[in-house]
Amino acid sequence: MLKKRNLFLILIALVPLTFILTQCFNGAPPDPRGEVYAGSASCQKCHKAQYDSYIQTAHYTTSRQASPHTISGSFAKGLNSLDYGYGLKVVMENRGDSLYQAAYQNGKQTGVAPFDISIGGVKAETYLYWKGKQLYELPVSYFSTIHSWANSPGYIPDRVNFNRPILRKCLECHTSYISELPPDGKELGFEKASLIMGIDCERCHGPAANHVNFHTDNPDEKKPKYITTYKSLTRSQKMDACAVCHSGNKMVPQKSTFDFQMGDTLNRFVGPDAFAGAATPPTLDVHGNQNALLSSSKCYIMTNMDCGTCHNPHVKQEQNIALFTQKCLSCHSEAQHNFCTLAPKLGTAINTYCINCHMPQKASHVISLTAFNGKMNPPYEVRTHHIAIYPGETKKVMAFIKGEKVK
Ligand code: HEC
Ligand code: HEC
Ligand code: HEC
Ligand code: HEC
Ligand code: HEC
Ligand code: HEC
Ligand code: HEC
Repeated sequence: MLKKRNLFLILIALVPLTFILTQCFNGAPPDPRGEVYAGSASCQKCHKAQYDSYIQTAHYTTSRQASPHTISGSFAKGLNSLDYGYGLKVVMENRGDSLYQAAYQNGKQTGVAPFDISIGGVKAETYLYWKGKQLYELPVSYFSTIHSWANSPGYIPDRVNFNRPILRKCLECHTSYISELPPDGKELGFEKASLIMGIDCERCHGPAANHVNFHTDNPDEKKPKYITTYKSLTRSQKMDACAVCHSGNKMVPQKSTFDFQMGDTLNRFVGPDAFAGAATPPTLDVHGNQNALLSSSKCYIMTNMDCGTCHNPHVKQEQNIALFTQKCLSCHSEAQHNFCTLAPKLGTAINTYCINCHMPQKASHVISLTAFNGKMNPPYEVRTHHIAIYPGETKKVMAFIKGEKVK
């Protein structure tokens, strides 16, 4: 028979147990970044519009589980191999259990690894695989401009390399989180289960569990609580919220930028000299360094413009030239006496080609493309964010407009 006191003790003991059980079984698993994070799925309930639109963007899909749906290249016979010459080739194979890249020298397999994670998807896609606790890049990537497989960026053209390790830095820009194993431990690498793929809501907005809990408990409160308000930030804080990932490959953070959140100062992460000597546009690579390029433009220097002047990060805006032209026209017009000096010559065509002339696509020197199978090596082009006058581009666009008018 149970004494009253024992029953009481048992009940007391059950309290934490039930707490733990409800925590584990109330839907989503706990967030690997800790309980101050709520996870993107929880935002959907109150911010459906932002959520539904955001999950379509290149940010959200920048890293995904590799599958036939997230790999753009073909696995069909005849389209699924990259020929390196001298009897060496890599074949993309669906072996049933998984998708693989397999290297063959004169028909004999010399290396093989699975597609585990797919990165990118707009212009290029590159793939990572797990070996133990380490991540490596696969030798073959996919490039949209040529609609086909090509050697991964920076790889030597005539060699197949399965051993290029992926460092945290790469994942800091292309995922929301991964926890690194301590460098003094037995093994180097990452905690696989802690990986949060894609750039999620809290990667930009910061941990929001308190925000979610507060508004769930106080549904009538319409003022945002426990979340950073973008509008209240200084211009440099606004810029830093994007610059944390859009300052190019040369930026070397001294501590993990996974801890960076909207409202932080990037200097706290990268040290004061990080951007020293990087500021002249001709020496800047267009790839990924929109921050420095825009900052060097007159439009930026003479106004209070930031990335949000032209971009809404919740919306897929690619190729929406009319929308971007509208942004230019909000500051540049005949009425404000700062319109394009070519306007009289251009007529109505001006609105279509604003960006082609003043923010042209430029070839990256960081990413170069080596395709095989007799194809040319096309440049990897990125939209420059140094807004300026480009006489060469103007000539090309003028010739194009004239050609168009002739027909
Ligand atoms: C229970 C409802 C609720 C949930 C869940 C919720 N929010 Fe909110 N949130 C609000 C309310 C209410 C506001 C204030 C009104 C508005 O801006 O819509 C707000 C405002 C915001 C703002 C704008 C702040 C500003 O004024 O600049 C951001 C950013 C935000 N929430 C992010 C998130 C994120 C990220 C999540 C998921 C992790 C989330 N919210 C989940 C209720 C919620
Ligand atoms: C956590 C890192 C990170 C942050 C923070 C970030 N970006 Fe990005 N952004 C990326 C990556 C990575 C890509 C490339 C995505 C891809 O194509 O796989 C990208 C792509 C983009 C693109 C091109 C999208 C497209 O559809 O082709 C735009 C525009 C952009 N970012 C703007 C911004 C702005 C504005 C901010 C600040 C509000 C911002 N980003 C903050 C990492 C980030
Ligand atoms: C790449 C960074 C980035 C990501 C990722 C991101 N946001 Fe935002 N969000 C912003 C910025 C910047 C603003 C401020 C926009 C402005 O005021 O011009 C903003 C504003 C908001 C607002 C205020 C209302 C509005 O639409 O301006 C809400 C609510 C919000 N975000 C929710 C979310 C939710 C929910 C997610 C995930 C589904 C998300 N955000 C993902 C950068 C981001
Ligand atoms: C400092 C942040 C940063 C780092 C580090 C970084 N990237 Fe990126 N990456 C970006 C941004 C921003 C873009 C898109 C904008 C651009 O091309 O200018 C991008 C573009 C890409 C693209 C093309 C995406 C598309 O949709 O077309 C691929 C693929 C890619 N990166 C892979 C990688 C890999 C693999 C690594 C690590 C070995 C890496 N990146 C390191 C920020 C970064
Ligand atoms: C927030 C307002 C604003 C926006 C938006 C804006 N600009 Fe400007 N832009 C300016 C100002 C101010 C100047 C400096 C004018 C001067 O020198 O008198 C300028 C200068 C320029 C110049 C001359 C650059 C030089 O080096 O001489 C060009 C070209 C230009 N803008 C094109 C554009 C284009 C194209 C867009 C859209 C993609 C755009 N601007 C968006 C405000 C803006
Ligand atoms: C004056 C307007 C303007 C401002 C301000 C601006 N952008 Fe852009 N951005 C554009 C235009 C126009 C494109 C080209 C869109 C297209 O071709 O689909 C673009 C494209 C991009 C891309 C895709 C690059 C590519 O080659 O496809 C990224 C990444 C990007 N912007 C990031 C940023 C970041 C980060 C900031 C702030 C540092 C910023 N932008 C500020 C106008 C702007
Ligand atoms: C065919 C190429 C072309 C197109 C399209 C074009 N521009 Fe220009 N723009 C130029 C050139 C070239 C100059 C410099 C002309 C000169 O030095 O006399 C210029 C000059 C400018 C200036 C500097 C004016 C000044 O006072 O110095 C601004 C601002 C500008 N353009 C904005 C725009 C905007 C906004 C659009 C789109 C609505 C646009 N341009 C479309 C080629 C173009």
